[in-house]
Formats: sequence, structure tokens, C-alpha cells
Amino acid sequence: MKVRVEAEQHKTSALLLANIGQLLTLRSDVNGPRRGASLSELGIIQDAAVLCVGGKIVSVGTTKDALRDRWLKKNRKKITEIDCAGKVVTPGFVDSHTHPVFMHPRLVDFEKRISGANYEEITAAGGGIRSSIDGVREATKPALTTKVGAALIDMSRHGTTTVEAKSGYGLSFDSELKSLEAIRSASREWAGTVLPTFLGAHVVPPEYRGRSSKYVELVCDEMIPAVSKRKLASFVDVFCDRGAFSVEDSEKIFAAAENHGLSVRAHLGQLSETRLQPLLRYKPASLDHMDHVNSADLAALAKSETIATFVPGANYFLGLSKYPDARLLIESGVAVALATDYNPGSSPTLSMPMVMSLACTHMKMSAAESIAACTINGAFALRIADCKGSVEAGKDADLAIFDVSDYREIPYWFGVNRCTLTIANGIPLGSHTR
Ligand code: NIG
Ligand code: FE
Repeated sequence: MKVRVEAEQHKTSALLLANIGQLLTLRSDVNGPRRGASLSELGIIQDAAVLCVGGKIVSVGTTKDALRDRWLKKNRKKITEIDCAGKVVTPGFVDSHTHPVFMHPRLVDFEKRISGANYEEITAAGGGIRSSIDGVREATKPALTTKVGAALIDMSRHGTTTVEAKSGYGLSFDSELKSLEAIRSASREWAGTVLPTFLGAHVVPPEYRGRSSKYVELVCDEMIPAVSKRKLASFVDVFCDRGAFSVEDSEKIFAAAENHGLSVRAHLGQLSETRLQPLLRYKPASLDHMDHVNSADLAALAKSETIATFVPGANYFLGLSKYPDARLLIESGVAVALATDYNPGSSPTLSMPMVMSLACTHMKMSAAESIAACTINGAFALRIADCKGSVEAGKDADLAIFDVSDYREIPYWFGVNRCTLTIANGIPLGSHTR
């Protein structure tokens, strides 16, 4: 509680970041998400400064100009100054796909995979998503809240200030609502921004084996209305793939979400190819994974506002040699984002810089593209680009400072954390490392 009070006080004080070596503003004249060549535009200002007041960015420019500003000169004593000493500053990362509500790591699955079993074989043998259910069902809400809160803190240590957080390991009415309530409680104790997503349709839970349509009814007729009524989620997600939910199930779930005023997104094309048209009709905010995409769908996807979100942490952790074809999607005009997919089964990482590194090395995205995909396009994937994802006057004061002198070093150094300070909604979250 005390931390929160201090944070609130901080929020009202002004903050000046000065002597920034490279400020990646991500500002652009392009309206809407970045596509094609505009994905590489970082809007870099050298020797930059950013002034934040009341949790918002109020001005962005060079340090020289900032220090000449009359208001700033007059109020200098009241302003907390952060000397960035030539470091790189980015917009706080927007991690638009995470599953933080689980109790235990899945070490048995991990060992099985090391011995050669693949994700679907492990699921068929009783592992996978279903093996995280008991932990969540048995856990108290405070215990889940603690887990989510710890993940949020770790995320911000790596530069993340906005997180989409899914339920999806409770898979019963009570445990799904408990999971979303844990997200809400944890987010209240964190200075960053959390958007909760209801993922009751992650897999069919064991007690509905062979009766999946009954489970879809429960999701549509009971869970979604309750989630909407209690304002527990911004989005409804569905795992639409082999072994999970069909396109027809997903359409029913999307329709129920729409009827209850909730936006939709889906896990798609992770294990098998699914045609996009039936789902695009519901204008999903994002379609995530996209390892398998039919090239005949690219034009429709490119014309839509839907973001294709890649989660290469899952490809890495599942030991796959195939990664999504980012170049094909980008060159087709599809708006792409990157996210961690933080979860205990396929992607136990909280680090957006690690995801960028994977995107550069294994998906041939440039360093600049990977940064735009983790910031402004992540914000579009969550439909909050009016206040997140770039460093511009009027937007939320979400910033990350990296101890590097060139932005390309952010994805270059992997397995280490170069983020030294994160500021979320104008609140410095404590210097983390180094
Ligand atoms: O995004 N694909 C579905 N859901 C997760 C995996 C969750 C798990 O294995 O626990 C994903 O990879
Ligand atoms: Fe996922």
C-alpha cells in the first residue's frame, strides 16, 4: 500500500529525462499501424530530452532546447531530473500477448521435450495446457495475484510498461473469474498498464472431454456474460487450432463476445493452417502466432486493421526450426507486432528484448522493425495507440532506458538485461540492473 501512495505522489511531480543519446520516438505521420517501409521509421532524436508531468509526456526535443525552456528554467527545482548520459531511450514496450496466471513451471513437459517429444505429443500424453489447470483451480486468489504481480515487476525490469494478460488455465466458471480478478488485483499494485483478456477457450478441460460443444456453450452463455457484466476483461481470446477449438467454435465465441461488447483476438496458425476470412469478419484486434498462413489470405489481412502478432519465444522454446514468415507478411502490407507469449508451456520468457533478438536472427526482421513491432504496433494490437507506443506530447509517460549507445544493441545483446530504468505512467520503477 505504501509503495502505491509514494507512486501516486511521484505521478504528480515532473520528470525530465535529459542527455539521451538516441531517443526513439516512434513518431510518424502515418495514421494507423505501421506497415511495410514505415515499420522501420523510429523517429530518432539525438541528444534528446523528454519532459513528463502528471504521468503524461508534455514535450519532446533536444536537451539543448529543453534546457532553454522558460517554464523548465523557472520550475527546475520541482523537477526530478534523470541524466541519461548518452543512453538509448525507447517507448515502454507493449507486450500484447501474455498468460501470467499460472502457479507452476511445467518442468515435466520441458524434460519430455528435451528427450524428443513435441508439443502436441506432450499434450496427448496429458501434459500441455491441461497440466496447469489443477494448480490454478486449487490456488487462492491472493496466491495467483502474487504470481501475476511478480511477473509484471519482472516485465517492467526488461522495459515493458503495458501488458495484455490472459486468463486460460482455470477453465471453469469460478477459476476463470478468479484468474481475471487476480489480474485486476495485481495490476492495481503495478504502475504500468494492464489489459485483461478472457481466454476461457484455451482448451477443453478434462471434465468436458468428448463434449466440447457443451464447454463452448458454457463459455458463450455463462462465462462471457459474467466477465462482461463484472468488467473483468477488455478482450475475448480463443485458441483456434488443431486439438483446441474449431473455426465454428471460434465464430460462436466471437459472436458471444461481440454481443456483450467485448473485442476479440485469437491464437491462430500455431500448429496448423486455418483460413482467416470467417474470423476476420469479427474484426479481431490481433491474430497471434501465425506460423502457418495461407498466402491467399494475405491481401485480406493487409487490408484489415487486424495485427498479426508473432511470438517467436514459443518457436524457440519448443525447439522449432520453423519461425513465422515475417518478411512475407511485412512485404504483403500486413501490420505485425511482437510479444512474449509469456506462459509456462511454450514461452517462459518475460523479455521483449529477447523476443526482438529472436525476430532479428530467426525471422530476418531488422532491429528497427523489431522495435516498432514491440512498441507502436503492440499498442495498435491492443487498440490503445492513442496513448501508448510512442514518445509524443500528450501520450502516457511510458519510457525505458537502455545502457547502450545504439538502438540496434537492444536486440543484439541477448540473454542479458540492458534496461536500467523503466518509467510507467510517469512513475520511475526503480533502477534495475548494472
Ligand atoms: O500461446 N497456444 C496456446 N497457448 C499458449 C500455450 C500455453 C501453454 O502451453 O500453456 C501459446 O503458446
Ligand atoms: Fe499464447
